[in-house]
Amino acid sequence: MSPETFLSPVWWADDHLMLVDQRRLPVEEVERAYGRWEDVADAIRTLVVRGAPAIGVAAAFGAALAARQSRATTFVALLADLETALKGLAATRPTAVNLFWALERMRRLALASDRLPLDQVRARLLAEAQAIRDEDIAANRALGAHGAALVPANARILTHCNAGALATAGFGTALGVIRAAHALGRVGRVWVDETRPVMQGSRLTAWECAREGIPHTLIADVVAASLMGRGQVDLIVTGADRIAANGDTANKIGTYALAVLGRHHRVPFYVAAPFSTIDPTLPSGEAIPIEERDPAEVRGVGAQQTAPAASSVFNPAFDVTPAALITAIITERGVVRPPYHFA
Ligand code: MRU
Repeated sequence: MSPETFLSPVWWADDHLMLVDQRRLPVEEVERAYGRWEDVADAIRTLVVRGAPAIGVAAAFGAALAARQSRATTFVALLADLETALKGLAATRPTAVNLFWALERMRRLALASDRLPLDQVRARLLAEAQAIRDEDIAANRALGAHGAALVPANARILTHCNAGALATAGFGTALGVIRAAHALGRVGRVWVDETRPVMQGSRLTAWECAREGIPHTLIADVVAASLMGRGQVDLIVTGADRIAANGDTANKIGTYALAVLGRHHRVPFYVAAPFSTIDPTLPSGEAIPIEERDPAEVRGVGAQQTAPAASSVFNPAFDVTPAALITAIITERGVVRPPYHFA
């Protein structure tokens, strides 16, 4: 884990990037070192690192690594090598906008460094990646405090997927709100959706809660309706992978169903996300690209096959919750309510 006192899945050490291998949790805590951008791209693609902000931070360090790997002796050649890496890193996963936001920030910094010696360009790129990481942690702490103010005493909070420290540079978004509320003594219980098919809820969110003594109960995804019907959920809070200009929000598959259930049962549905997750270029959620993943994730549970190999599978990794079903969006700048405008 990172040398800091808080949990972080992504950090820089001497001359390489470190990632917690999230595929191995909760069984094993494995850390991996990365010295090449191509391997960072692979780590994003294969879910070693996952969660919108964490992907963005890892990709930024990937870009910094690309500049360090480059043998270029002119600025133009260094920029060409960097562009190749930016393209490769951008091609890893399509939905979380933080990835493209972070890569664009790295590109802009490089373009603005054309008069500097190449060593300084490389150093500035690394410092920018560090800044993206530091800013993410600060944003999550701030949005956690804003969100905790919405949590009533003894709250029973339902969350989906993992929007925790592991999905960010640290602290988390949805789980950041829960962490902050727990510190105020307001959390009665967290209902942790298991989150089929990749199980980020049971593998990662439950692990984070257990590690910090946050009272939690793991449920199969199909249990949420029954809990809400019995009045056992006070609020729902999830993270986001991309928020369109009108507030429509892409997040882990199953999130939309929870928002519909929340509306039916009059349970508030909150989205917690930093501004780096907002995509002002998309007017609505219709245009958000949704990743489709390997059918094997649905044909089995882990390595265990649970369906005929011949069955066709539809496996979207995300869905879009219409803004009309979202009670409020919790950001580092405060709580935004409908109609959504993110100035
Ligand atoms: O496929 P994943 O694990 O990258 O999906 C992650 C999510 O959907 C999270 O809820 C989202 O990225 C917000 S993380 C703070």
